[in-house]
Amino acid sequence: MIRSIIKSTGRYVPDRHVTNHELTEFMDTTNEWIVQRTGIEARYWVKDGDDVGTSDLAFNAAKIALERANWKPEELDLIVFATMTPDVYVPGSGAILQDKLGAKNVPAIDIRQQCTGFIHGLEICDAYIRSEKAKKILLVGAEYQSRYVELTTANRDTAIIFADGAGVACIEALETTDDVGIIASILYADGKYSQSLKFGLPARKSGRAISSALVENKEHFPYMDGKKVFKLAVTRLPKSAEALLQKAKMSIEDIDMFILHQANLRINEAFRERMNIPEENMYNNIQRYGNTTAATIRIAFDEVLEKQMVTAGDTIMFLGLGAGLTWGGVIYKMV
Ligand code: UT7
Repeated sequence: MIRSIIKSTGRYVPDRHVTNHELTEFMDTTNEWIVQRTGIEARYWVKDGDDVGTSDLAFNAAKIALERANWKPEELDLIVFATMTPDVYVPGSGAILQDKLGAKNVPAIDIRQQCTGFIHGLEICDAYIRSEKAKKILLVGAEYQSRYVELTTANRDTAIIFADGAGVACIEALETTDDVGIIASILYADGKYSQSLKFGLPARKSGRAISSALVENKEHFPYMDGKKVFKLAVTRLPKSAEALLQKAKMSIEDIDMFILHQANLRINEAFRERMNIPEENMYNNIQRYGNTTAATIRIAFDEVLEKQMVTAGDTIMFLGLGAGLTWGGVIYKMV
């Protein structure tokens, strides 16, 4: 049978290291509040004035992942690029990255899916691989969110959380008789909550896509009903983990490592306590990176691999929830 395995990973963050203390210069907040309520101590942002796009962050992470996989860009069958902050609205960043990599004629698709970009991306790669439409796929998650946050007290809930970064995984087809690679996945969406976390411009239901009135109304900044999304996360993540385990015919003890989307450390800690997971079986790095949306799980997984916290035969659960509302998870067995 054919299975999808993660052959290698790579991560990249821009140079500007932004501490919570720096944010207190722009808005009414404190380092203590941010650490207590989110776990975040610092994040990376692109430097103001740097000529960088989301695809450049992705390019740096992709180079590392490709090198580790020992793949040439032109060998790829597909690029899947997850982002909610593309270089430009159209075309997608996948095509821009394809050109930068020199991956001549390799098809590139962009997906949105925000915080669940990695989960949806894995599902798409797995579908391509199992149906024998692709053997080597570059799965990218990259965000340049700092250019969309407003450094004011009114928008401090999003300004303190969102960050820039990229995480890339090389997904490969493996012919095997072993139950390895992507074992099971589960995806959900509930558009009823589409207004709870949104980014209005430049798309519009009606009227002009961009006008000074819309900009005055700050629709070009992200909006988040943090409390609501928090509650949805702490209730839905455990339920989806249980459904995923059931689908894979596994129990929680079979999972060696949990890597969740990094939106708020308190969400992940609530999940860990509710599911009775030992501290050493969950990896968080939001403290150092903030919330890089489509890139969080990939960046965390790259660190887990680098620190050799998992080895062949170990089973990992990836889980995420975010704008849409979309949420879900994947169980992955290391080869
Ligand atoms: O990745 C996408 C998915 N997103 C999420 O999962 C985000 C989920 N939500 C969250 O992470 C949290 O809701 C936030 C971190 C955004 C906010 O934390 P919270 O504990 O829910 O705070 P809150 O909105 O209930 O606000 C509590 C208080 C309020 O003051 P009052 O009304 O009690 O006087 C806020 O005005 O804290 C105030 N506050 C702040 N104070 C200092 C809100 N943001 C800040 C801030 N600094 N940055």
